[in-house]
Amino acid sequence: MSEKNHNVSRRQFLTYTLTGVGGFMAAGMLMPMVRMAVDPVLDAAAEGDMNYLVEFDELGEEPIRRELTYEADDGWYESEQIETIYVYRDGDDVVALSAVCTHLGCTVSWEGSEDYPEMFYCPCHFGLYERDGTNVEGTPPTEPLHRYEYEIRDGAVYVGQSEPQ
Ligand code: FES
Repeated sequence: MSEKNHNVSRRQFLTYTLTGVGGFMAAGMLMPMVRMAVDPVLDAAAEGDMNYLVEFDELGEEPIRRELTYEADDGWYESEQIETIYVYRDGDDVVALSAVCTHLGCTVSWEGSEDYPEMFYCPCHFGLYERDGTNVEGTPPTEPLHRYEYEIRDGAVYVGQSEPQ
């Protein structure tokens, strides 16, 4: 190897070494800051609260509309959230569906159109869903209404997060 090649190698070695050490030190300083910023979100997502919705005895086979109001804390802000839910009994099971249309987020209503009895109807773009929340083909929504997890405590229905079906 020539002398010139040695000089270039040394320079490259120093450049890589300093870049590596500098990057390591920067990561050491930034990681705690990123962790502190993201931590509340991770904690909030892990909680999975259940909220009171309705007495089980009030439920029949016809979907009824309920407003769920609760305090949401995302780690930085507390705010009041309101969600509209349709809930009914299906045998021993409870079906709790989000009223948020899966097309563009308007609010659907049960039997909202005289032309479509026994269906959820979205007036924004004429979306239709079956009683169990299944989207009707040929209408804008491409997925079913989201369904809430639930549990029954002391004769009352509590719901958690809504999930895609
Ligand atoms: S938002 Fe419901 S059909 Fe478009």
